[in-house]
Order: sequence, then structure tokens, then C-alpha cells
Amino acid sequence: MTKKEKTSLPIQRPKGMHDILPQAQPLWDKVRKSAREIAEYYNFVRMETPILEKKELFLETVGEVTDIIEKQMFVVTTKSKEQLVLRPELTASLARAYVENGLQSLGFPFKVWSDGPLFRYERPQAGRYREFHQIDFEIISNEPDPVYDAELILAAVRFLEICKLKNIKIFVNSIGCKNCRPQYRKQLQTYYRSKKSELCPDCLRRLETNPLRLLDCKEEKCISLKARAPIILDYLCKPCKDHFKNVLEYLEELKLPYELDNYLVRGLDYYAKTVFEITVEGGTGAIIGGGRYDYLIELIGGKNLPAVGWAGGMERIIEAMNAQGVQLGNNKKPKIFFIYIGALAKKRSLVIIEDLRKNNIPIIESLGKESLKGQLRTADKLGSPFALIFGQKEAFEESIIVRDLDSGVQETVPLAKLADTLKKKLKNQ
Ligand code: HAM
Repeated sequence: MTKKEKTSLPIQRPKGMHDILPQAQPLWDKVRKSAREIAEYYNFVRMETPILEKKELFLETVGEVTDIIEKQMFVVTTKSKEQLVLRPELTASLARAYVENGLQSLGFPFKVWSDGPLFRYERPQAGRYREFHQIDFEIISNEPDPVYDAELILAAVRFLEICKLKNIKIFVNSIGCKNCRPQYRKQLQTYYRSKKSELCPDCLRRLETNPLRLLDCKEEKCISLKARAPIILDYLCKPCKDHFKNVLEYLEELKLPYELDNYLVRGLDYYAKTVFEITVEGGTGAIIGGGRYDYLIELIGGKNLPAVGWAGGMERIIEAMNAQGVQLGNNKKPKIFFIYIGALAKKRSLVIIEDLRKNNIPIIESLGKESLKGQLRTADKLGSPFALIFGQKEAFEESIIVRDLDSGVQETVPLAKLADTLKKKLKNQ
């Protein structure tokens, strides 16, 4: 090794990306299991899509004048000069897979869920990373029934509750449809044009291309201008008004408290009618965001099928669980500890353990550790109820010592009877 190599830092992970270490795994498992439980209860099927997608999928759906597309895409150019993107979200991918694989033949509603890593080239900060993970639930149907919007919001809240999160708040709005939104757009432009000198450079640009984005700007001066901006509820057409009213009535029926947020527009262009975000105490911003996207399936070449969905950021959910001090409790029973002494016993060990695995007997071992004392110490630390001690003598006699680690009482058992003996002992525990 050269002097330079010795003194340089070890290679580090890319900026804004994280290792999920063993000690964090129980919380990640809890979140994934909670999502699976909700999916099974509410009958969502699972689907997985590639991490790389064609660039145009997101340009056309998420919208060219959004942060995700303008600033945050991780683009990969292949050897054949094709531009692929590390997916920044799951909705467009799931919709693409739905259309491409002809899944409309499965009937309606099509309820699907997925999870996995997403990539956005963000400025890393608390709750905002370049690689993050989402749990995503979607319903594609043949009519925009508000019952699906409500069912999804219900599933989102129940999911967070199973993750043991408290103080859940739902914020909802409607952003109208193709028919009524243009009029609101005009009103917004008129309002903001009169404030041009106070807008940030991004908003100034978006004022002409995508004025709804101005309501989503995080710059202080733009946030304060928002307070007097016109609200979309005043411009909704009758079908959108009725739809929104129905969604709210379902939420009331379900006794799910919500807050109307007249300026909630979300950062993606594909939404129409209902949009919502969910926060929890100790969480960074919205930990779940979603809404209705009635034109997306058609936009990517499918039939005119309305849809609605949400995604929750797993990192944000886990950070909120940590902030709220969520305790998972350990309901895993300690395993039986397998100890060997000597080379001959070590050689036979894996075969004996394999036989116990076939009998569903949980075993833990440290086959690399030589000393009996060291192995017993580990067994004690792990809280194992029994230790199996397999030495030279036992290897010759086809037997093994079963030691009760609480009482210290031990007996020698023929290997042929080991599985049955252990099953009985575990039953009597
Ligand atoms: P989104 O609001 O962009 O929506 O993301 C949903 C959630 O993902 C956020 O509420 C947040 O928890 C998490 N998230 C987003 N960006 C980051 C980041 N850079 N770092 C950490 N967490 C992040 C969507 O992605 C839509 N596809 C949701 C949807 C599904 N709409 C309909 N169906």
C-alpha cells in the first residue's frame, strides 16, 4: 500500500444515502410488516417494478415543471445512449406496469401496493435524502368513486397506528379537474403577477408555466404571499365539489378527524380532485402524501381509468417512531444454544443442527468459538433456556448433553432421540 492510500479516508457512502444497520432492522421490519398487514386486510395485491425506468415516464407524468423533474432526477446514460432514471416515485411505475401488462383484465377495483428505494437528487437535510424508501398503496378503478379516496386515507391512518404512532393529522384539499382548474390557474396568475417583485426566482419562472407550484414553495417570502392567494374551493366545478364533499362525508362517517388545507397542492403534476397529506408528532413534514390521479393511466397509453393512492416515507416514519419513543417489545423466544468441543464434534455439528432445523427447533451456535467457557457465556447472554454440548466422547457415542441453563441439571440423550426430547422440553417451558 502506498503512503497516500494509508492516510486517505476509507471509502464512504454517497451523500444523502444511508446504510440500514442491524440495530435499526427491528423498526424497519415493523414498518414493512405493518404495511403487509394493512395490505392483506384491505385486499391489496403486491407488485414490484424495476428501479430504473425510461426518463419519459416521469417527464410526462410527474410533470416537467416540478422539482422532481427539474432538479432531482438521477439520470443514467446506458452504453447504447438510452436515458434511464433511478425512479423518484412509485406511482408512475406502477401505472406503467399496470398498462404494459394488461392488468385491467383483472377487473376493478385494482388495489395494489409496493415498497422499495427511490432516488431524488435533493439537498440532504433532516427527513430529506437522496435515497429513501416508500410504502405505496394505489387503487385503480373504472370510476372515480370517492369511497376509494376515503378507504385509502383510512388504510394510511391504520398503517401508522399499527406502527404505534400517535397524534396523526390528516390534511385534505381538492385541486379540481381539467375543467375547473384552468380558471383557478388564471386567478392565481393574476394574483401573483401583481406580486412579481416579491417572488423567489423559481416562482417567478413557474408563474407562467405552472402557477399551482407557487403554493408549494418553501421560501419564506413566498409562504407569506400564499396567505392572501385565491383558494381553489371557490372555483371547483359541480362534479369536483360533489366528489370532495363525498370524500369528507366518508371521513366523518369513519370518525377520522381531518383539516382542510386550502393551499395543499402537492409537488407532482398528475393529481386531480382529492389531495392529502398526513403528519405525526415528531415527524418531518408530511410522512404520507397522496391523492387522486384520474388522467395518469390514459396519459401513459392506457384506458381512461381514474386512480388514487398514497406513499409514506419509511425513513420519516421510522424517525417519528424514534422521536415518539415507540417500544416494540421483544416477543422472540430465546433459541437453544449449540456448543461443540473439539475438532471431531465441530465437523459433525452442522449435520446435527440441520436435523434440528428440519424439526423446527430453533438453534443458535457460535461454531467459530473454540472455548467451552466462551460459548457458555454467550448462551447465558442470549438467555437460551438450554444448551446442547457435543464433545469428542459424545461424537463417538452418537449422543449429546442437554443442559438446562436455569437449573444447571443436564442429561445425555442419544442423537436419534434429540429432536423429540427437545420438543417435549420446549413444550413444558
Ligand atoms: P411524495 O409526496 O413525493 O409523493 O412522497 C411521499 C412521501 O415520501 C413523503 O411524504 C415523504 O414521507 C417521503 N419522501 C419524499 N421525498 C423524500 C426524500 N427526499 N427523503 C425522504 N423521504 C421522502 C409521492 O411520491 C407520490 N407518488 C405519492 C402517491 C402515491 N400519490 C398517489 N399515489
